[in-house]
Amino acid sequence: MSNRIDYIVKPSGKLTGRIRVPGDKSISHRAVMLGSLAQGRTRITGLLEGEDVLCTLGAFRAMGVTMEGPNRGALSIHGAGLHGLQTPTTPLDMGNSGTAMRLLAGILAGQQFDSELTGDESLNRRPMERVAEPLRRMGAVINTAAGGHPPLKIKGGQKLRGIEYPMPVVSAQVKSCLLLAGLYAEGETMVSEPAPTRDHTERMLRGFGYSVLTQGARICLRGGGKLQACKIDVPADVSSAAFFLVGASIAPGSDLVLEHVGVNPTRTGALNILKLMGANLELINRREVGGEPVADIRVRAARLHGIRMPAEQVPLAIDEFPALFIAAACAEGETVLTGAQELRVKESDRIAVMAQGLTRLGIEAMETPDGIVIQGGRFRGGVVDSHGDHRAAMAFAVAGLRATGPVTVSECQNVSTSFPGFVELAARAGLSINIE
Ligand code: S3P
Repeated sequence: MSNRIDYIVKPSGKLTGRIRVPGDKSISHRAVMLGSLAQGRTRITGLLEGEDVLCTLGAFRAMGVTMEGPNRGALSIHGAGLHGLQTPTTPLDMGNSGTAMRLLAGILAGQQFDSELTGDESLNRRPMERVAEPLRRMGAVINTAAGGHPPLKIKGGQKLRGIEYPMPVVSAQVKSCLLLAGLYAEGETMVSEPAPTRDHTERMLRGFGYSVLTQGARICLRGGGKLQACKIDVPADVSSAAFFLVGASIAPGSDLVLEHVGVNPTRTGALNILKLMGANLELINRREVGGEPVADIRVRAARLHGIRMPAEQVPLAIDEFPALFIAAACAEGETVLTGAQELRVKESDRIAVMAQGLTRLGIEAMETPDGIVIQGGRFRGGVVDSHGDHRAAMAFAVAGLRATGPVTVSECQNVSTSFPGFVELAARAGLSINIE
């Protein structure tokens, strides 16, 4: 972890104006990965220059891929081809990023060389058998440390074969890992998902000219093809936009436009949930950019009410719950979330961390094994610990808009993994936030 940063948020007015949050993290990781494995030069604009994506970028540079940038979101990659990566001389450090580690595991399983993936304290506590186990079924030789945690040690030179894999967890990372390994496998790799998850990998593979078949819950591809370089314009991250959607909803008098936000239907659970809670969201100027739906979102303050969060929306809003819990705390009545046990194995245990912080700020929040029950109320000022979780940190910062006194959020340094410039942008929109 870099130097410790705390935020101090003063109770403040409203969020207004027009802002564009940084590029989508999931799409940025995939753009760097597929661009590196493609033939020819891939030009990316709107890339998220957050630490997570920089880890992915660093890993491919360490495997011999030449890139120019990133510079203000522009990155040009001279693809090495599917079989052109070189042996890295050190373990590849994925920092805080579960996506980088799990997706790379799929790619590395198909290489001729040995490799090792490590991470920071948080990542080194996260479950990796969910990818290691199906990769072994494909013929990969891959070891996890005690408890199924990183580091991952991957032996090169294995012959992978396609498998049919019904996923036991609802996870786009597992799906994507297996599809990427499938590029190197003999025959067909077929993954079926228990519920829809983000489909950026499938969309982007098609954008690189690779045939991927989606039939209901089943996604198939055949190994042995090629990726052809292309242009990618990364939309703004709906997961980063979520903090502002909630902030503007709960702060009276707010009227904010978020520009060029990715609104892929596998990512819009938070928009659907907020609308069910009574939020005033308007999607304007809908368009498609490089195979991904994009829109500007206008959000105005609204009276929110508690709901039972619909089960089918949970995977579609999986990263937005810290923000949604803040909305629930400002809503009238009770909000109930169930079926979200995956939140316990994110960058932190997000159910525990958020329940603890909400309670600290005077909100009644009761943890359940797979969710939380939140009674709408009034935030008081105080000190909350984000436990180094970027999304918990930004969620508590936004809570400051409706607190009766200043809110100090501790351990916010990891915000730069997904949202570099958060403090400056939030301040521009009207949040009274300072760094300590
Ligand atoms: C991601 C998938 C999600 C999400 C993560 C990014 C991705 O994880 O939480 O932030 O880019 O594929 P799971 O698929 O493990 O739920």
